[in-house]
Amino acid sequence: MNVLLIGSGGREHALAWKLSQSPLLSKLYAAPGNPGIADHAELVKLDLDSHTAVIDFCRLMGVEFVVVGPEAPLVAGLADNLRAAGIACFGPSAAAAQLEGSKGFTKDLCARFDIPTGAYQRFNNAPKAKAYVRAEGAPIVIKADGLAAGKGVTVAMTVEEACAAIDDCFEGAFGAAGAEVVVEAFLDGEEASFFCLCDGKTALPLATAQDHKRVGDGDTGPNTGGMGAYSPAPVMTPALIERTMKEIIEPTMRGMAEMGHPFQGVFFAGLMITAKGPELIEYNVRFGDPECQVLMMRLASDLLPLLHACATGTLDQVKAEWSDDVALTVVMAANGYPGAYEKGSVIAHLPEESLDAKVFHAGTARQGDALVATGGRVLNVTATGKTVLEAQARAYALLDQVDWKGGFCRRDIGWRAVAREKA
Ligand code: AMP
Ligand code: GLY
Repeated sequence: MNVLLIGSGGREHALAWKLSQSPLLSKLYAAPGNPGIADHAELVKLDLDSHTAVIDFCRLMGVEFVVVGPEAPLVAGLADNLRAAGIACFGPSAAAAQLEGSKGFTKDLCARFDIPTGAYQRFNNAPKAKAYVRAEGAPIVIKADGLAAGKGVTVAMTVEEACAAIDDCFEGAFGAAGAEVVVEAFLDGEEASFFCLCDGKTALPLATAQDHKRVGDGDTGPNTGGMGAYSPAPVMTPALIERTMKEIIEPTMRGMAEMGHPFQGVFFAGLMITAKGPELIEYNVRFGDPECQVLMMRLASDLLPLLHACATGTLDQVKAEWSDDVALTVVMAANGYPGAYEKGSVIAHLPEESLDAKVFHAGTARQGDALVATGGRVLNVTATGKTVLEAQARAYALLDQVDWKGGFCRRDIGWRAVAREKA
């Protein structure tokens, strides 16, 4: 099978690495890809905003299956257009991608289908939102409705902070994404991410992961796209996974189908494990980055038939096998990230890799013979181990062999799980 992978991050490098191991794969193309992905795929320049250009490319090259990494092309309807052209696509329709594209849409779905989540209200103006915040009190959570690159959420510890966040949204800090605001009850507990494939009528649980959103050690400083992750997330016991499937994933799948938007793709459920059990914080409609990197390290099955079954409604015919090992990834980011960061610094050396120790590329590029950093998150240094402590030690040992002066990383990825192992 000829496959086209869309995207250019560490997530897509991990997907390309895993897809390239499939005996079912004839040829892998990636658009736009990155230097790491180039080891596994032919990189192609495509205008991804032009869905016709993508379809024309697929027809020309005999591509039967497109795997979409990031959310933006899905929200823009790339999967709809590919499917209409008779090309299978891993990723939901634009209507189903609203699960990620609109927090209000997801909250309304939860209310309608009785899915556990924080109590909430939607607002289109600041005075009403602030009045609600004053009535509810703090802590409370303010969310821009639309896609805001992970930055549209404020967990406000005081009413003043919440009101300032409401002003930011309505004054345009997140552009159109902030034209509507969701105010949500603060959920107290431990977070975990749960990944589950869905073909519209069958859901196939994949695995759990935990990421580290804050830039600094000890989970301090501003939020980022994720500074590291590990899988599995020890908080997600088999009993909690079963509850998550029954109480959150299955009602979502049924609800989406009932509303006329059957969901085909991966549910990436952000959960809070509260005293009551699993509650939904949010859905994403694509793999997490860097969560995907640790999932791919642990997936023992061939990825290609899983994603293809998801896209073609045959998920009831496949199974996913996982290694019991822990995988852990540390993100190396350019100095300054998540603020303005340096670009163009040279990555002088990358370590030797093996099947269980990998450096995935995110924001890198080739300049002549040199590998340079071009993005905020640049490398994902990933290893496996029997325990989180072992995976962590191996990932940092690998990372210490990277010769790149322009970057930094957190030194404590996995700390919560390591503390749990030691307890
Ligand atoms: P989101 O973009 O919705 O995942 O939110 C970003 C982060 O904000 C989450 O990973 C949580 O750490 C936090 N968060 C979001 N909603 C809530 C909530 N209702 N209660 C507590 N923390 C939350
Ligand atoms: N690491 C979080 C995300 O991909 O949204």
